[in-house]
Amino acid sequence: MCGIIGYCGPKPAAPILIEGLKRLEYRGYDSAGICVGNNGELNVVKRKGKLQVLDAAVPADFPGWYGIGHTRWATHGEVNDTNAHPHIDRSGRIAIVHNGIIENYSALREKLEQDGHAFRTETDSEVIAYLLSTLYEGDLEQAVKQTCRILKGTYGIVAMHQEEPDLLIGARNGSPLVLGIGDKEMLLGSDVTALIAHTKQVVYIEDGEVVRVTPTSYRTTDLGDRQIDKRVDTISWELEEIEKDEFRHFMEKEIFEQPESIKRAMQGRVDHEHATAHLGGLNMSNRELLEIERVKLVAAGTSYHAGMVVSYLMESLARIPCNAELASELRYRNPIVERNTIYFVISQSGETADTLYAMRELQRKGARVLGICNVVGATIPRESDGGVYIHSGPEIAVASTKAFTSQLTALYLFTLLIARMRDMSYEQGLNFIEALDSIPALTRSVLDRHAEVEALAAKYCRAEDFLFLGRGINYPVALEGALKLKEISYIHAEGYSAAEIKHGPIALINESTPSLFIVPDDGLREKVISNMKEVKARKGPVIALAVEGDRDVAAIADDVFYVPKAGELVYPFAMMIPLQLFAYYCALQLGRDVDQPRNLAKSVTVE
Ligand code: M6R
Repeated sequence: MCGIIGYCGPKPAAPILIEGLKRLEYRGYDSAGICVGNNGELNVVKRKGKLQVLDAAVPADFPGWYGIGHTRWATHGEVNDTNAHPHIDRSGRIAIVHNGIIENYSALREKLEQDGHAFRTETDSEVIAYLLSTLYEGDLEQAVKQTCRILKGTYGIVAMHQEEPDLLIGARNGSPLVLGIGDKEMLLGSDVTALIAHTKQVVYIEDGEVVRVTPTSYRTTDLGDRQIDKRVDTISWELEEIEKDEFRHFMEKEIFEQPESIKRAMQGRVDHEHATAHLGGLNMSNRELLEIERVKLVAAGTSYHAGMVVSYLMESLARIPCNAELASELRYRNPIVERNTIYFVISQSGETADTLYAMRELQRKGARVLGICNVVGATIPRESDGGVYIHSGPEIAVASTKAFTSQLTALYLFTLLIARMRDMSYEQGLNFIEALDSIPALTRSVLDRHAEVEALAAKYCRAEDFLFLGRGINYPVALEGALKLKEISYIHAEGYSAAEIKHGPIALINESTPSLFIVPDDGLREKVISNMKEVKARKGPVIALAVEGDRDVAAIADDVFYVPKAGELVYPFAMMIPLQLFAYYCALQLGRDVDQPRNLAKSVTVE
């Protein structure tokens, strides 16, 4: 989604803004722009397309020490230079960048047009610049506050005025905004990756807050001018973590990081002595944990698939009814919140609008909602009633990979904790821990055989349609495999329960539609093998992910990738890795933009 950067300080602003925008590229965008203030004038450059285009258009000596920049992911109006941000008011004195959606922009625009304002763009954001200009009476902060009172919808805004040099005003309602405190310089960003090269000291701006920023000071107030004292947080990520190192893409790097990121998600949380887990951030006593009668896992996209995997695990190990729900659906179906039900919202970014709004709706109804998040300090972990950080480190590629396996890890630990309070014996607990401990080495040994997956991708990447099929706890893995393939290679892929194909999708099978089966050596193996035969009988090419030494599968499938034998319940980890690699290598061979696939954004902050 859109990205924001703002700078005021002693250095030339333009290179810092461009660099900040580069760090935000991963969020997904289609155009970009900057505005720099210098000697009582504002200079704007904005371009459709990639940042290189903008960079090339910005003159080498673009003077000015305060400015704002933006990467746009179009919602209102087509992708072109004009609709790109920053937007300036008619007089050219005020510039703004905006993330979010202004819901009442049509009415506001109509009114402003009646008052003689001629708009230049098709965006909802432009009304903010025009409102500011009509409300400005020599104090930009006050004009921003008045404007915010009129706006309906979501926004993260940064505004600047040509006659108030070295001043930025930021405001937030529903779209993230972070202040970075540097040495005689300040930055504003839509996420910390934009700031981390300059400072690790940050202040998270909350909904309803306005921040007034100069190179050496900041003040946060609400819309009624009441001062709000803010805590300064320190970002724990290192700059190197958001660099690609020797990898070609962030996605490749993040796939290969998984043995380590899974370990980090487990670190300090496994209690071998009592065969259980410690998850301090849940903020729940053992008595409260014991009272849980139902668990619901709420998320979107890949995080939803992680929730689905865990719903199988939770019911099988802890014997607690558990289901995963799409956040976007849950929010609007007037969910029934029952006593003794615990909700987890799962989100890598912690900013996904669908998930965040579902969480707020559940909390409004009195539910206890815990977060499973990666980004420390994001809105979901701040607003949830407790939770678990997965500590994957920054995930930059749009396609989520390491966050998925770390989400699983955190929720597997929660399952262990709650299962051990119920029917799971000490012995069984130790066995489960042994299986958990094996995951990093298991994933590493699968990664070591990446060349085999690359060869499979070379063979199949020209197919136009794919089916991904699995059963039980590996059914959501099939869904996730299909999602990975379609989002970065643009190959049409559907995930199904292998049992379901006979109820419809089998009609799609022909010689050019490969089916990828997940066939672990679990209780459903025989059934899945039958489903494979059904596909082969219709001349469909079959690729199988099976367990080392499974000759029955090899006898049916056209190609097999073997994973090492493991505990039944940890196969989702082992099976996911080749599917991530398969999507990656297909996209690579098809020449796709792997890290920033078309139309997609890393953090989806609109509904
Ligand atoms: O940040 P979140 O985990 O809340 O994001 C949810 C989805 O938008 C995300 O998983 C999306 O599906 C990814 N692009 C999948 O790779």
